[in-house]
Amino acid sequence: MSAAIEAARVCKTYGQGPTRVEAVRALDLVVRAHELTVLVGPSGSGKTTLLSILGCMLTPTSGTVRVCGVPTGDARPEALAAIRRRHIGFVFQSYHLFSTLTAGENVQLALDIRSERGPGATAKSAAVLADVGLSAKLNAFPRELSGGEQQRVAIARALVADPSVILADEPTAALDSENGRAIMAILSSAAKQRGRAVLVVTHDARLFRFADRIVHIEDGAITREERPDADDCETHARTVGSQRAGRP
Ligand SMILES: Nc1ncnc2c1ncn2[C@@H]1O[C@H](COP(=O)(O)OP(=O)(O)OP(=O)(O)O)[C@@H](O)[C@H]1O
Ligand SMILES: [Mg+2]
Repeated sequence: MSAAIEAARVCKTYGQGPTRVEAVRALDLVVRAHELTVLVGPSGSGKTTLLSILGCMLTPTSGTVRVCGVPTGDARPEALAAIRRRHIGFVFQSYHLFSTLTAGENVQLALDIRSERGPGATAKSAAVLADVGLSAKLNAFPRELSGGEQQRVAIARALVADPSVILADEPTAALDSENGRAIMAILSSAAKQRGRAVLVVTHDARLFRFADRIVHIEDGAITREERPDADDCETHARTVGSQRAGRP
């Protein structure tokens, strides 16, 4: 499977002197098309920092990142913004929808900033909202939607410009388990049916069954990777669950 993002020896240090934090340490990671990769690790282990670097929102202190074969190291801010617009869709825990825009308009905004406007853009936005099961909510405002529905609008917004990569930072953390599963199913289908590279940060071991690959991070470094079979994922989820609860 082809590499959508390749990070090599990536480091990120925040602050200086006594406040210095090594958030990411010489980390190598390849995020591949057609795959849903779950990134899991304790609070403060560097997940959001890593996602921000992979998504060209944050410059690493050292190391290299290639997005769809394009090296980002020497790129100026405008060039990085262009790489983000062309290749990457972001999904966040707290949806980040515009409250004064309808669901359809929130999705269409992602096309608007890519200078894609008019009836074609409106139709495309409606089609992607239908894909995530929200055709009936096209004209609803965020306040009229449930959390799960708002997150589906956010995913539609991330998908509408046809990015190669979806980066999702705890997209299910604010949702109940049923809505969390629905969101993971949509992200999984973006990888499997549409061939996108999908990287999801989640703490929820019950959602690991959607992963093709689980990458564990601690103190800014990858400690372990696994490719769970559908069969042994429940076992794995239980193992991680009991570890988190402090049980052997
Ligand atoms: N802008 C910043 N300035 C200084 N330190 C930061 C900054 N952002 C993150 N850090 C520190 O870097 C480390 C990694 O933070 P990061 O947000 O990447 O962790 P995380 O794994 O996403 O945690 P969580 O699960 O709580 O979201 C932490 O020690 C954090 O305090
Ligand atoms: Mg985080």
